[in-house]
Amino acid sequence: MSKATPNDESRTSIETTWGNREFIERWIAKGGWQGPIREMQTAMVLRMIPQPLDAPIRVLDLGAGYGALAVAVLRDRPKATALCLDASAEMLKLGRERNALGHRIEFVQASLETPDWLNSVNGLFDAVISSRALHHFTTNQRRRFMFKEIFGIVRAGGCFINADNVRAPTQTLRDRYSRARDEWLDRQVRESSGGKTTLAELRAATPSTYHGSHNNGYLDEDLAWLKEAGFADVDCFWKFGTTVVYGGFRT
Ligand SMILES: C[S@@+](CC[C@H](N)C(=O)[O-])C[C@H]1O[C@@H](n2cnc3c(N)ncnc32)[C@H](O)[C@@H]1O
Repeated sequence: MSKATPNDESRTSIETTWGNREFIERWIAKGGWQGPIREMQTAMVLRMIPQPLDAPIRVLDLGAGYGALAVAVLRDRPKATALCLDASAEMLKLGRERNALGHRIEFVQASLETPDWLNSVNGLFDAVISSRALHHFTTNQRRRFMFKEIFGIVRAGGCFINADNVRAPTQTLRDRYSRARDEWLDRQVRESSGGKTTLAELRAATPSTYHGSHNNGYLDEDLAWLKEAGFADVDCFWKFGTTVVYGGFRT
Protein backbone atom coordinates (compact mmCIF):
# COMPACT_ATOMS: atom_id res chain seq x y z
CA MET A 1 0.00 0.00 0.00
CA SER A 2 1.47 3.39 -0.93
CA LYS A 3 0.98 6.35 1.37
CA ALA A 4 -0.78 9.45 0.00
CA THR A 5 0.74 12.76 1.09
CA PRO A 6 -1.49 15.60 2.38
CA ASN A 7 -1.07 18.87 0.45
CA ASP A 8 0.63 21.83 2.19
CA GLU A 9 -2.61 23.45 3.33
CA SER A 10 -4.04 20.32 4.97
CA ARG A 11 -0.65 19.45 6.50
CA THR A 12 -0.46 22.84 8.27
CA SER A 13 -3.95 22.58 9.74
CA ILE A 14 -3.51 18.93 10.69
CA GLU A 15 -0.29 19.76 12.57
CA THR A 16 -1.90 22.39 14.77
CA THR A 17 -5.24 20.60 15.23
CA TRP A 18 -5.89 16.91 14.51
CA GLY A 19 -2.16 16.20 14.42
CA ASN A 20 -1.67 17.55 17.92
CA ARG A 21 -2.27 15.23 20.90
CA GLU A 22 -3.22 18.09 23.25
CA PHE A 23 -5.84 19.40 20.79
CA ILE A 24 -7.21 15.87 20.28
CA GLU A 25 -7.58 15.34 24.03
CA ARG A 26 -9.46 18.64 24.37
CA TRP A 27 -11.70 17.56 21.47
CA ILE A 28 -12.41 14.19 23.11
CA ALA A 29 -13.36 16.01 26.35
CA LYS A 30 -15.78 18.18 24.37
CA GLY A 31 -17.38 14.97 23.12
CA GLY A 32 -18.80 14.68 26.63
CA TRP A 33 -21.49 17.32 26.27
CA GLN A 34 -22.17 16.54 22.61
CA GLY A 35 -22.39 12.84 23.48
CA PRO A 36 -26.18 12.36 23.39
CA ILE A 37 -26.38 13.66 19.79
CA ARG A 38 -23.41 11.59 18.71
CA GLU A 39 -25.02 8.47 20.20
CA MET A 40 -28.17 8.98 18.09
CA GLN A 41 -26.09 9.59 14.97
CA THR A 42 -24.03 6.45 15.55
CA ALA A 43 -27.15 4.35 16.21
CA MET A 44 -28.57 5.44 12.85
CA VAL A 45 -25.36 4.63 10.97
CA LEU A 46 -25.32 1.14 12.50
CA ARG A 47 -28.95 0.46 11.60
CA MET A 48 -28.61 1.64 7.98
CA ILE A 49 -25.84 -0.82 7.05
CA PRO A 50 -27.85 -3.24 4.90
CA GLN A 51 -26.05 -6.60 5.27
CA PRO A 52 -27.18 -9.14 7.93
CA LEU A 53 -25.61 -8.55 11.35
CA ASP A 54 -23.60 -11.78 11.16
CA ALA A 55 -22.15 -11.12 7.69
CA PRO A 56 -18.34 -10.84 7.46
CA ILE A 57 -18.48 -7.33 5.98
CA ARG A 58 -15.50 -5.14 5.19
CA VAL A 59 -15.83 -1.55 6.40
CA LEU A 60 -13.88 1.60 5.52
CA ASP A 61 -14.09 4.58 7.91
CA LEU A 62 -13.00 7.85 6.23
CA GLY A 63 -11.54 10.62 8.41
CA ALA A 64 -11.83 7.98 11.11
CA GLY A 65 -9.87 9.75 13.83
CA TYR A 66 -9.06 7.07 16.42
CA GLY A 67 -11.78 4.87 14.92
CA ALA A 68 -14.80 5.54 17.19
CA LEU A 69 -17.40 4.87 14.48
CA ALA A 70 -15.60 1.84 13.05
CA VAL A 71 -15.32 0.36 16.56
CA ALA A 72 -19.08 0.85 17.07
CA VAL A 73 -19.72 -1.10 13.85
CA LEU A 74 -17.33 -3.89 14.85
CA ARG A 75 -19.00 -4.21 18.26
CA ASP A 76 -22.39 -4.45 16.51
CA ARG A 77 -21.13 -7.00 13.97
CA PRO A 78 -18.91 -9.78 15.34
CA LYS A 79 -17.57 -10.91 11.94
CA ALA A 80 -16.91 -7.45 10.45
CA THR A 81 -13.44 -5.99 9.86
CA ALA A 82 -12.53 -2.33 9.42
CA LEU A 83 -9.92 -0.10 7.86
CA CYS A 84 -9.67 3.38 9.39
CA LEU A 85 -8.20 6.11 7.18
CA ASP A 86 -7.14 9.49 8.52
CA ALA A 87 -4.57 12.17 7.67
CA SER A 88 -3.43 12.61 11.26
CA ALA A 89 -0.62 10.31 12.42
CA GLU A 90 -1.44 11.29 16.01
CA MET A 91 -5.11 10.24 15.66
CA LEU A 92 -4.06 6.92 14.15
CA LYS A 93 -1.52 6.39 16.93
CA LEU A 94 -4.28 6.95 19.48
CA GLY A 95 -6.47 4.48 17.55
CA ARG A 96 -3.75 1.80 17.67
CA GLU A 97 -3.18 2.48 21.40
CA ARG A 98 -6.91 2.19 22.19
CA ASN A 99 -7.51 -0.78 19.89
CA ALA A 100 -8.94 -3.74 21.74
CA LEU A 101 -10.13 -5.48 18.59
CA GLY A 102 -6.82 -6.86 17.33
CA HIS A 103 -6.67 -7.92 13.70
CA ARG A 104 -10.28 -6.83 13.07
CA ILE A 105 -9.24 -3.17 12.77
CA GLU A 106 -6.41 -1.52 10.82
CA PHE A 107 -5.30 2.10 10.52
CA VAL A 108 -3.85 3.84 7.47
CA GLN A 109 -2.60 7.41 6.98
CA ALA A 110 -3.78 9.27 3.88
CA SER A 111 -5.31 12.63 3.01
CA LEU A 112 -8.72 12.90 1.39
CA GLU A 113 -7.69 16.20 -0.21
CA THR A 114 -6.93 14.44 -3.50
CA PRO A 115 -7.99 11.13 -5.12
CA ASP A 116 -4.57 9.72 -4.17
CA TRP A 117 -6.13 8.33 -0.98
CA LEU A 118 -7.49 5.52 -3.16
CA ASN A 119 -3.90 4.21 -3.45
CA SER A 120 -3.94 3.56 0.30
CA VAL A 121 -6.92 1.20 0.29
CA ASN A 122 -7.14 -2.17 -1.46
CA GLY A 123 -10.18 -3.77 -3.02
CA LEU A 124 -13.89 -3.20 -2.42
CA PHE A 125 -15.84 -2.46 0.77
CA ASP A 126 -19.34 -3.47 1.88
CA ALA A 127 -19.79 -0.29 3.86
CA VAL A 128 -17.94 3.00 3.58
CA ILE A 129 -18.75 5.14 6.61
CA SER A 130 -17.65 8.49 7.96
CA SER A 131 -18.36 10.64 10.98
CA ARG A 132 -17.90 14.39 11.35
CA ALA A 133 -15.04 14.57 8.89
CA LEU A 134 -16.31 15.15 5.36
CA HIS A 135 -17.72 18.64 6.09
CA HIS A 136 -14.05 19.69 5.85
CA PHE A 137 -14.20 19.21 2.06
CA THR A 138 -16.69 21.76 0.72
CA THR A 139 -14.12 23.99 -1.00
CA ASN A 140 -13.91 23.43 -4.76
CA GLN A 141 -16.69 20.84 -4.39
CA ARG A 142 -14.09 18.32 -3.22
CA ARG A 143 -16.82 16.25 -1.50
CA ARG A 144 -18.67 15.95 -4.83
CA PHE A 145 -15.67 14.23 -6.43
CA MET A 146 -14.98 12.21 -3.28
CA PHE A 147 -18.48 10.70 -3.52
CA LYS A 148 -17.58 9.40 -7.01
CA GLU A 149 -14.31 7.98 -5.70
CA ILE A 150 -16.20 6.26 -2.86
CA PHE A 151 -18.82 4.83 -5.24
CA GLY A 152 -16.00 3.12 -7.16
CA ILE A 153 -14.90 1.10 -4.09
CA VAL A 154 -18.34 0.12 -2.72
CA ARG A 155 -19.27 -3.47 -3.51
CA ALA A 156 -22.69 -4.11 -5.13
CA GLY A 157 -25.20 -4.44 -2.28
CA GLY A 158 -23.11 -2.12 -0.13
CA CYS A 159 -23.53 1.41 1.16
CA PHE A 160 -21.96 4.75 1.94
CA ILE A 161 -23.21 6.41 5.12
CA ASN A 162 -22.03 9.78 6.42
CA ALA A 163 -22.79 11.15 9.89
CA ASP A 164 -21.93 14.80 9.60
CA ASN A 165 -22.83 18.47 9.98
CA VAL A 166 -24.46 20.55 7.25
CA ARG A 167 -25.20 24.24 6.79
CA ALA A 168 -28.68 25.53 7.67
CA PRO A 169 -30.44 26.87 4.55
CA THR A 170 -31.17 30.27 6.19
CA GLN A 171 -29.87 32.31 9.13
CA THR A 172 -33.30 32.04 10.80
CA LEU A 173 -33.16 28.24 10.65
CA ARG A 174 -29.57 28.27 11.84
CA ASP A 175 -30.60 30.18 14.97
CA ARG A 176 -33.61 27.94 15.58
CA TYR A 177 -31.58 24.75 15.15
CA SER A 178 -28.90 26.04 17.46
CA ARG A 179 -31.49 26.94 20.12
CA ALA A 180 -33.26 23.56 19.73
CA ARG A 181 -29.96 21.69 20.13
CA ASP A 182 -28.93 23.67 23.21
CA GLU A 183 -32.34 23.33 24.89
CA TRP A 184 -32.39 19.59 24.25
CA LEU A 185 -28.79 19.06 25.38
CA ASP A 186 -29.37 21.22 28.46
CA ARG A 187 -32.22 18.92 29.48
CA GLN A 188 -30.00 15.86 28.94
CA VAL A 189 -27.20 17.36 31.05
CA ARG A 190 -29.57 18.33 33.88
CA GLU A 191 -31.20 14.88 33.88
CA SER A 192 -27.96 12.93 33.77
CA SER A 193 -26.41 15.06 36.55
CA GLY A 194 -29.49 14.85 38.76
CA GLY A 195 -30.07 18.58 38.35
CA LYS A 196 -26.57 19.52 39.50
CA THR A 197 -25.15 20.78 36.18
CA THR A 198 -26.37 22.82 33.20
CA LEU A 199 -25.16 22.75 29.59
CA ALA A 200 -23.77 26.27 30.02
CA GLU A 201 -21.68 25.17 33.00
CA LEU A 202 -20.43 22.05 31.22
CA ARG A 203 -19.49 24.09 28.16
CA ALA A 204 -17.71 26.74 30.22
CA ALA A 205 -15.67 24.00 31.87
CA THR A 206 -14.69 22.44 28.52
CA PRO A 207 -11.59 23.88 26.79
CA SER A 208 -12.17 25.28 23.29
CA THR A 209 -11.33 23.25 20.20
CA TYR A 210 -12.10 26.02 17.73
CA HIS A 211 -10.12 25.35 14.55
CA GLY A 212 -11.43 27.86 12.03
CA SER A 213 -14.89 28.38 10.57
CA HIS A 214 -16.45 25.22 9.15
CA ASN A 215 -17.43 25.71 5.54
CA ASN A 216 -20.19 23.09 5.79
CA GLY A 217 -22.11 22.15 2.68
CA TYR A 218 -25.85 22.14 1.99
CA LEU A 219 -27.69 18.85 2.53
CA ASP A 220 -29.64 19.13 -0.77
CA GLU A 221 -26.40 19.50 -2.67
CA ASP A 222 -24.78 16.52 -0.91
CA LEU A 223 -27.78 14.30 -1.72
CA ALA A 224 -27.73 15.42 -5.37
CA TRP A 225 -23.99 14.66 -5.57
CA LEU A 226 -24.54 11.18 -4.15
CA LYS A 227 -27.16 10.45 -6.83
CA GLU A 228 -24.86 11.88 -9.49
CA ALA A 229 -22.10 9.54 -8.27
CA GLY A 230 -24.39 6.54 -8.91
CA PHE A 231 -25.81 5.75 -5.45
CA ALA A 232 -29.43 4.53 -5.18
CA ASP A 233 -32.00 5.12 -2.41
CA VAL A 234 -30.15 8.29 -1.47
CA ASP A 235 -31.69 10.06 1.49
CA CYS A 236 -31.08 11.86 4.73
CA PHE A 237 -31.79 8.99 7.13
CA TRP A 238 -31.75 11.08 10.32
CA LYS A 239 -31.60 14.80 11.05
CA PHE A 240 -31.50 16.97 14.15
CA GLY A 241 -31.06 20.57 13.05
CA THR A 242 -27.75 20.72 11.23
CA THR A 243 -26.58 17.31 12.45
CA VAL A 244 -27.36 14.61 9.89
CA VAL A 245 -26.87 11.05 8.75
CA TYR A 246 -27.20 10.66 5.00
CA GLY A 247 -26.08 8.19 2.38
CA GLY A 248 -26.97 5.81 -0.39
CA PHE A 249 -26.60 2.25 -1.62
CA ARG A 250 -24.89 0.55 -4.55
CA THR A 251 -27.22 -1.81 -6.34
C1 LIG B 1 -13.98 15.83 14.00
S1 LIG B 1 -12.74 14.61 13.72
C2 LIG B 1 -13.76 13.14 13.54
C3 LIG B 1 -13.01 11.88 13.80
C4 LIG B 1 -13.88 10.61 13.80
N1 LIG B 1 -14.51 10.38 12.53
C5 LIG B 1 -14.92 10.66 14.89
O1 LIG B 1 -16.10 10.86 14.60
O2 LIG B 1 -14.53 10.50 16.06
C6 LIG B 1 -12.25 14.96 12.04
C7 LIG B 1 -11.19 14.02 11.52
O3 LIG B 1 -10.94 14.34 10.15
C8 LIG B 1 -9.56 14.13 9.93
N2 LIG B 1 -9.11 14.89 8.74
C9 LIG B 1 -8.97 16.22 8.60
N3 LIG B 1 -8.49 16.52 7.40
C10 LIG B 1 -8.30 15.34 6.75
C11 LIG B 1 -7.83 14.98 5.47
N4 LIG B 1 -7.40 15.91 4.60
N5 LIG B 1 -7.79 13.67 5.13
C12 LIG B 1 -8.19 12.71 6.00
N6 LIG B 1 -8.65 12.99 7.25
C13 LIG B 1 -8.70 14.28 7.61
C14 LIG B 1 -8.91 14.63 11.20
O4 LIG B 1 -7.58 14.17 11.36
C15 LIG B 1 -9.87 14.10 12.26
O5 LIG B 1 -9.49 12.84 12.72
